[in-house]
Amino acid sequence: MPDLDLPQRQAPDSLMLTGFWYRALPADRVHRNQLYKATVLEIPLVLGRDRLGHPFALRDACPHRGMPLNRGRFDGENIECGYHGWQFDVHDGQCQLIPSLTADQNLKVDRIYAGSFPCEEQDSFIWVFIPDPPPLGAGFAPPAEPPDEAPQIEKFSNKYRSAYLQAEMPVSVDHGIIGLMDPAHGPFVHQAWWWRSQHSIHEKKKNFEPIPNGFRMSAHTPSSNSAPYKLLRLYADAESITTTIDFVLPNLRTETIRAGKYWFSSLTTVTPISRNHCRIDVVAAWNLFRWVPFVPEVLKFVFAKFVEQDRRTMELQAEGLKHNPHLMLIDDADRPAKWYFQLKAAHLEAKRTGAEIKHPIVGPVTLKWRS
Ligand code: FES
Ligand SMILES: [Fe+2]
Repeated sequence: MPDLDLPQRQAPDSLMLTGFWYRALPADRVHRNQLYKATVLEIPLVLGRDRLGHPFALRDACPHRGMPLNRGRFDGENIECGYHGWQFDVHDGQCQLIPSLTADQNLKVDRIYAGSFPCEEQDSFIWVFIPDPPPLGAGFAPPAEPPDEAPQIEKFSNKYRSAYLQAEMPVSVDHGIIGLMDPAHGPFVHQAWWWRSQHSIHEKKKNFEPIPNGFRMSAHTPSSNSAPYKLLRLYADAESITTTIDFVLPNLRTETIRAGKYWFSSLTTVTPISRNHCRIDVVAAWNLFRWVPFVPEVLKFVFAKFVEQDRRTMELQAEGLKHNPHLMLIDDADRPAKWYFQLKAAHLEAKRTGAEIKHPIVGPVTLKWRS
């Protein structure tokens, strides 16, 4: 008997995970010597690049009296708050100057910090590490050290092209993520005459396996109705094409398609902006068609269409979610969604107890659904 989970509430208090890297802004929109605002996990940030082009991120609130630092002056090295002129080093947030102090007042200026976040540029985005717990506005602590580098797209040759896409959605990060890994919405949401119709629906069977902090749809020949696959088939025979899809906490979905020396790789993230708002960022890199005009444009058009269809669907879904309905997840089509919630719970539990994460998936699993 297929087991149908009891209806459960899960949307409204969707937790946002700290202790991870998040995409904050597209790198090409952040220019030197200027200040930009961004919000990640409900934390207001001021971002920019110093005069050498190195990115930085501070909490967008002066530790003195909370003035947004993005309204201050920036000389390429320090930000000067627009209220009383305190100055902060943009990289570590350390206070450099408090203009109101007289020569005989010995307040230790360098013990004051504006909350600063580790920041890296990687694959078209400025990433920010949100430590656990995140720094408050007023602080006396230097920035946290991230445990690792920001995630990167895997590339399989030196020459490649890349592009990114963004879409904001008025739903929690959880709905954004489970919408992304949901295999059953394709025939209904992603219809187009040049793509597929509801009638192309057929039974699928995929193998999954646990990986650290996530799960993998094991390498397989991609389904004949996926976009990059259709393109790759122009280059290689169907059997030589394999695709692998990974999901890893907190929000990373990587898809890798390989066909001999040709490859297509993408890293999609769903970033919590606030409790009921998230943003999907897709960055793709590929070494196909680099010399053929318009192909990147066509690829981008196809992906933009997809992302827009997902965005529109979630916008409508948000209408229904406003009233906090009971929801249910069914097997097998919603099993990845269940794993996501279980992984998240296991991660939080491991953090609480200090023990190793207890992976909810013990071994390879085969899932079946129609799509
Ligand atoms: S609020 Fe920033 S210097 Fe006073
Ligand atoms: Fe979709």
